[in-house]
Amino acid sequence: MLTQQQLKQQAADAALEFVAQVAGPDVVIGVGTGSTADLFIDGLARFAGRLRGTVASSERSAQRLAGHGLPVLDLNEVPFMPIYVDGADEIDANLHMIKGGGGALTREKIVASVAERFICIADESKLVQRLGAFPLPVEVIPMAREAVARSLAALGGQPCLREGFVTDNGNIILDVRGLSITDAPGLEARVNDIPGVVTCGLFALHGADVALLATQNGIRRLTR
Ligand code: 5RP
Repeated sequence: MLTQQQLKQQAADAALEFVAQVAGPDVVIGVGTGSTADLFIDGLARFAGRLRGTVASSERSAQRLAGHGLPVLDLNEVPFMPIYVDGADEIDANLHMIKGGGGALTREKIVASVAERFICIADESKLVQRLGAFPLPVEVIPMAREAVARSLAALGGQPCLREGFVTDNGNIILDVRGLSITDAPGLEARVNDIPGVVTCGLFALHGADVALLATQNGIRRLTR
């Protein structure tokens, strides 16, 4: 019986095979945030010197990448990336995701938007029938906290401030329980439209292109 950590390692290793296919001196890889992404970063170290560099979705990942000698580039210098690799808190069969458990959702969405393909790496426990058991993280500009919380409550959610947490962008996170997510792209658009919301952790308007889900019987690959 493989542990969750071993499953995460399998998923990270599977994503490294994608890197091997695209690696080259002009190639930049987009890198996510979280414990699964950390394992991917550790494996990416073997590509140091064989890539132009990486773009990180958080200060945390940037530090880990730099620690392995992998150049971390400013996204403004990078017009194209073949792949962006990141974990998820939940993913469904449509490859819609909830992300942001680590609070890096906004930069994750931005970096992913520049990549040709989003490769989601996770252990199979992240695959769900319907998104929403995991509280939806929403990054909010601090002065809008209460106004946004009221709007989220009007959508049927129960927002809760993530105590003692400030995002890399200087904002706060509201974690929202109790949302009925029957239309993930529609809800993503509605939440993102609330004044004061930077972005929400639904990745459904642009979901993953490939999911590499580690199971006790090997990697289960889902594609759109
Ligand atoms: C961070 C994220 C992560 O991808 C998500 O929380 C999954 O993390 P882990 O790989 O540690 O389970 O969205 O903002």
